[in-house]
Amino acid sequence: MVAKLLIDKKREGKALGTAEIREFIEGFVSGSVPDYQMSAMAMAICCRGMTARETSDLTDAMMRSGRCLDWPGIPTADKHSTGGVGDKLSFIVQPLAAACGVFVPSLTGRGLGITGGTADKLESIPGYNAGLPLDEFNDVVRSTGVSMTVQTAEICPADKKLYALRDVTGTVPSIPLITSSILSKKLAEGAGTLVFDVKCGSGAFMKTPEEATALAESLVTGAKAAGRRAAALVTDMNTPLGHAVGNANEVAEALAILDPSKGAQTKSAENALEISVELAALMVSLSLDLPMDEARQKCRDKLADGSALAKFKAMIKAQGGDLDRFDALMRKPVHKFRLLAMRSGHVESIDAEKVGRVALSLGAGRMKADDRIDPLAGVTIAVSVGDRVAVGAPLATLVTTSTPDILEKAAAELLKAFTITQNGVQSPQNPIIKRIN
Ligand code: URA
Repeated sequence: MVAKLLIDKKREGKALGTAEIREFIEGFVSGSVPDYQMSAMAMAICCRGMTARETSDLTDAMMRSGRCLDWPGIPTADKHSTGGVGDKLSFIVQPLAAACGVFVPSLTGRGLGITGGTADKLESIPGYNAGLPLDEFNDVVRSTGVSMTVQTAEICPADKKLYALRDVTGTVPSIPLITSSILSKKLAEGAGTLVFDVKCGSGAFMKTPEEATALAESLVTGAKAAGRRAAALVTDMNTPLGHAVGNANEVAEALAILDPSKGAQTKSAENALEISVELAALMVSLSLDLPMDEARQKCRDKLADGSALAKFKAMIKAQGGDLDRFDALMRKPVHKFRLLAMRSGHVESIDAEKVGRVALSLGAGRMKADDRIDPLAGVTIAVSVGDRVAVGAPLATLVTTSTPDILEKAAAELLKAFTITQNGVQSPQNPIIKRIN
């Protein structure tokens, strides 16, 4: 293989062959294709695109660069979210699907940018080990039905190396590159069913429904081409999901939503639960061959009888987490600021991106890969879109443990996230924009 000729071919908009793609990626991982040639190829792919077949070949080559798991004898499924503000749905969806009899091996990530990733949020539970070796991950999945741990270096090394280059060469926004990056990791995890939650809006990676739909279709097509059952939802991310945006507060909110004695008590929490039930039902329907209506009902039953909460708790315990110490952590003294409404009216919108940026400034996320996350930092929103508020009513609470000095400025920024209108109630948008099978 002559790497330069393949770069020329892609630059001219021609489709690369299966073996060409495989050899290029193998060369990149082994070092015979240097970073500058991989960067040029990534840019050519960004500008010229790839066919669905090429995208599948790229995904397959990246998946094969590391270890691939498999789960003989058990029905397995996982959900992947493209990430959003207040996205604690993994703590509801994955245990809920497990409570319905699906095994859920979920390799997850740490966050860079707005707030922590799933692993960071779970690590706010004292003792929780989000760094299980793969054989222990296997044991927890088989014994409790669900495990969430950080993807190890053995999974898709090609993606780790390529993503680092894309990040600094302006080659992140490309549907074939994003698809192969997400999908290679999920395929390597080995689940037979993959369900994608592609977020769309101000707080998401994909800002428009068109972009989100293109990514969702590409992920579903790629997963099916690799022999998996797959579906996707395109869901709204203009408004944060639920009320909590941070780390520990998101885990606490998910625990409350899963708890039948508490549940989803507001419109925002109901939206988060509605998307969760739909995602879990897709996992159950596809992996257990059940009609969607039956799968939805099964999910609702498992929420109502507490089995989904029990699964989440069982996973936390199996991975060393201590919920008594978590409760004590949530009662720890922190620096707080209550943001109050300056005018009365209806809450027309709560801008997810602005809320996320405030949470980040309070310490809930990382600006750089080695930043330390403050597990208690974040924002808890007191209202839902459509609510009526009076002057002086609480809109949100900001929390940090670093220094109280940052709170006032952060609160002024957070106020800009709220649009309060005098024009009557806006009917809130359906949080599920589209389903792709
Ligand atoms: N998430 C990934 O894992 N890869 C991308 O390319 C973009 C988002």
